[in-house]
Amino acid sequence: MAKQQIGLLFGGQSGEHEVSIRSAQAIARAFATEKNNARYQLHPFYIQKNGLWQSTDKAASVLSAGSPPSDSDDPVANTASRWTFPASAANVDVWFPVLHGPNGEDGTLQGLLQLMQVPYVGAGVLASSAGMDKIATKMMFAEAGLPQVPYIAVNRAEVWSNPCVFPELCDRIEKKLGYPCFVKPANLGSSVGIHKVRSRDELEAALDNAASFDRRLVVESGVEAREVECAVLGNDTPKVSVVGEITFDSDFYDYETKYTEGLSQVHIPADLPEAIARKIQEMAIQAFQAVDGSGISRVDFFYVESTGEVFINEINTLPGFTATSMYPMLWESSGVDFEDLVDRLVKLAIERHAPQSR
Ligand SMILES: Nc1ncnc2c1ncn2[C@@H]1O[C@H](COP(=O)(O)OP(=O)(O)OP(=O)(O)O)[C@@H](O)[C@H]1O
Ligand SMILES: [Mg+2]
Repeated sequence: MAKQQIGLLFGGQSGEHEVSIRSAQAIARAFATEKNNARYQLHPFYIQKNGLWQSTDKAASVLSAGSPPSDSDDPVANTASRWTFPASAANVDVWFPVLHGPNGEDGTLQGLLQLMQVPYVGAGVLASSAGMDKIATKMMFAEAGLPQVPYIAVNRAEVWSNPCVFPELCDRIEKKLGYPCFVKPANLGSSVGIHKVRSRDELEAALDNAASFDRRLVVESGVEAREVECAVLGNDTPKVSVVGEITFDSDFYDYETKYTEGLSQVHIPADLPEAIARKIQEMAIQAFQAVDGSGISRVDFFYVESTGEVFINEINTLPGFTATSMYPMLWESSGVDFEDLVDRLVKLAIERHAPQSR
């Protein structure tokens, strides 16, 4: 049988460009195993920080270096070049996008791949865009009856435009949510622009800062909770992994803690009462279905040990995929190794693209 041609798409215009390169490295290694190499031929495609697509030699050299080349964000002289894909893109049978954050995980790239009419791994347009926007996600989770911490959605205009509105907004937040609360841009990842606030002064400064990242913001009640995560794999009948936990000493799981080695620890499986682990797994499936997920997702929760409550925090439709990321490690511990995982994801992409499942 002829090998299937896999287009591994990575890099992209988001703050998580570097993580994407590391995820793609791990995935490329999984395609290079004897079993996968017999079935698939991998073609790396690198989207530079300035939006230009690079294939073959340049993409391969970024993959082996593990970091972006110095010209990745050079100004693009001719915008038409941004719309010209490498010729080898035409030979791809299945796309494997591994871009985290805006312009990769948010439905924009998925829309492009959908228009190309070629199967692609992971979530479609709806789940990607809904999963990226924290306000849209919360509305869908609420509709599905999933428990969440109390929150208020905020528009940038309420923070910036009108001096009379801002104090009222802060009053409303204090009354409904109290302190500590978390102020977040709705459409970023990696804890960028997220603030834990404990006073009116901090609240005002955090809203102002978060509004510089996004037009849409969300403010949530802070909970004292353990942070647990569950991986989902599948299409119409998704499967769940064991539950994992992240622990750290910092005030919350902020950017530095996420990306500095040694500042956080992963525990798989999490040491949880069986009933709680089961409840988290059931909620992970409900969350996946609530946003119309497909292929892959990691669903994150807060577990309040003192009361036994579990709140859903978010769904990541393109979670970190490096060799030490939670998503592949959860599957490894659930009996699906990295090599098998990428193979299954390709098959799920083909299944979803088949006319009868659309
Ligand atoms: N309501 C809350 N109560 C307690 N801690 C919170 C709350 N919201 C966020 N946090 C802390 O802030 C971290 C980042 O928040 P969140 O997961 O919403 O951001 P993110 O940037 O979307 O993360 P990701 O990179 O996983 O997409 C959480 O892991 C947690 O440590
Ligand atoms: Mg998170």
